Amino acid sequence: MRTVYLNGDYLPENEARVSIFDRGFLMADGVYEVTSVLDGKLIDFAGHAKRLARSLSELDMQTPDCMDDLLNIHRELVRANDITDGMIYLQITRGAAADRDFAYPSADVKPTVVLFTQNKPGLADSPAAKTGIKVISIADQRRARRDIKTVQLQFPSMGKMMAKAAGCDDAWMVEDGHVTEGTSNNAYIVKGNKIITRHLGNEILHGITRAAVLRFAREAQMEVEERSFTIAEAQDADEAFITSASTFVMPVVEIDGAAVGSGKPGDIAARLREIYLDESRKMAI
Ligand code: PDD
Repeated sequence: MRTVYLNGDYLPENEARVSIFDRGFLMADGVYEVTSVLDGKLIDFAGHAKRLARSLSELDMQTPDCMDDLLNIHRELVRANDITDGMIYLQITRGAAADRDFAYPSADVKPTVVLFTQNKPGLADSPAAKTGIKVISIADQRRARRDIKTVQLQFPSMGKMMAKAAGCDDAWMVEDGHVTEGTSNNAYIVKGNKIITRHLGNEILHGITRAAVLRFAREAQMEVEERSFTIAEAQDADEAFITSASTFVMPVVEIDGAAVGSGKPGDIAARLREIYLDESRKMAI
């Protein structure tokens, strides 16, 4: 039985209750973050907190009173649930008004804040990191403001199921002939020694792992190009990989049935995974 956080209280998971009028439930009017935990410490916490503040502000959502206390809340949940490796899920919604209404509720309706832990022993030693994952491509049919991390995840879930039905692990979404990102991760290819990933904009989520990995890559004198690429270019690349808070750096070895490079995880992806895990563990709080 987990201890979860709900609006100021730490509760057993089966005692945490949210109203049926909550706008997260009725309208997917909420934002979220996923922060990984390695060795009992938070990875990239500052980046996630900063993106959360931006998501709230882009949606004119009220900042909850506990905003300045988020680090302590994360740490308390790690402690209470004895998490060594895993994730912390945080969600903030516009709260529960008295009735369903498209207009935002008045300021006296407080945001709903929920955090819970996900225990994932050995998160950084995922067997998939050694074999790589397979992806399919699908049309990106998500909403336009993908840079805001909202809980509107129906299409990414559909994409994940399409990938599973095709015997693959994930889907890369394509818009106007170019890859945007994975269902819950950023997408990369490697050509020669160059790491290529889509430039930032409204079309993709600005991954916290992406920012760290690109910084480490540049520090290690690797060449980085931030531009869009096609599925054909990806299939013809030497390597491909994804990044996210839950997968870190994960090699992609097959795209729409075509092997990428040797069909095995590439050296650059493996090196970036190692650097990312080493450096982030050092900076974990
Ligand atoms: N997903 N792109 C999308 C669409 C995502 O949902 C995510 C994260 C990322 C990677 O962002 P970051 O490096 O900050 O985790 C990119 C989380 C892990 C999730 O939904 O579970």
